[in-house]
Amino acid sequence: MKNTEEDFNCCVTTCGLPLNANYWDNQYVNGETGWDLGMVSPPIKNYLDTIGDKNCSILIPGCGNAYEAAYLVQHGFTNVTLIDISSTLVENLREQFGDAPIRILHGDFFEHQGAYDLIIEQTFFCALNPSLHERYAAKMYQLLKTGGKLVGLLFNKEFEKQGPPFGGNKADYKELFSPMFELKQMDDCTTSVKPRLGSELFIEMRKKELPENSVRLFAIGGITCSGCKKDITQNFLNLSGVDSARINTDFTEVLIVCSPTITNDDLKKAIAHDAKYTLATTTI
Ligand SMILES: C[S@@+](CC[C@H](N)C(=O)[O-])C[C@H]1O[C@@H](n2cnc3c(N)ncnc32)[C@H](O)[C@@H]1O
Repeated sequence: MKNTEEDFNCCVTTCGLPLNANYWDNQYVNGETGWDLGMVSPPIKNYLDTIGDKNCSILIPGCGNAYEAAYLVQHGFTNVTLIDISSTLVENLREQFGDAPIRILHGDFFEHQGAYDLIIEQTFFCALNPSLHERYAAKMYQLLKTGGKLVGLLFNKEFEKQGPPFGGNKADYKELFSPMFELKQMDDCTTSVKPRLGSELFIEMRKKELPENSVRLFAIGGITCSGCKKDITQNFLNLSGVDSARINTDFTEVLIVCSPTITNDDLKKAIAHDAKYTLATTTI
């Protein structure tokens, strides 16, 4: 079969520079931080101003210089956690925040464990390889308490150059998040900083109260093109009780939201017609 443009694009980011701790640390060491607003993001500030409970637990992943955290501390919030993968940045943050009541973690968001009322998204999602989008959604779901919210900004545009930042669009975000989150807001943001005005969505998503074991992320093998990606997705969706199935852009993981009555064996059987397809549990 001839490759289509979509086949070539599907794994484009895996051919580039690995976006690992070393990459991000170098950005800070070399002062290449074009994303840095130098101030609290206005739409996020407006949202933070509406929160009454100053003891609610807040996580800011991929926090960068964390102006939002400084704002929270200044306004009496007592339970703020920051996590970033760059050691240089984290050292600076620890110096800057001194003995302020704030938890500053050096580490990978995807390995973090915790339970939060609110997670703030600010140019973290767009910094990730798009093949991590399904893992990001599953991780956010896991880290939020029941009724907890993911709030912040997502780009609603494509970028000309290969990312980061990586672009995205509202339809795709809806498909990704709506099986697990009630989308209270996903609207064009009117209070973005000038250079981003018209290109950001303000999001406020509330974790749905799904039964335990409804959200599952698997390692998947055997998919080699967008054609089999489509067919295998449909196989999962054909099972009664499967609400959504999304295979990631490099065909290595699948996010499934389903009834807890569906067993992992049911899911394996749905793709067992060809031995090349494999499904294995993976940790979130
Ligand atoms: C584009 S910057 C945004 C920083 C900050 N949110 C802002 O808006 O200024 C992305 C940040 O995510 C961090 N990062 C990237 N991958 C990460 C991961 N897996 N876990 C934690 N932090 C990560 C980077 O070190 C960087 O600080």
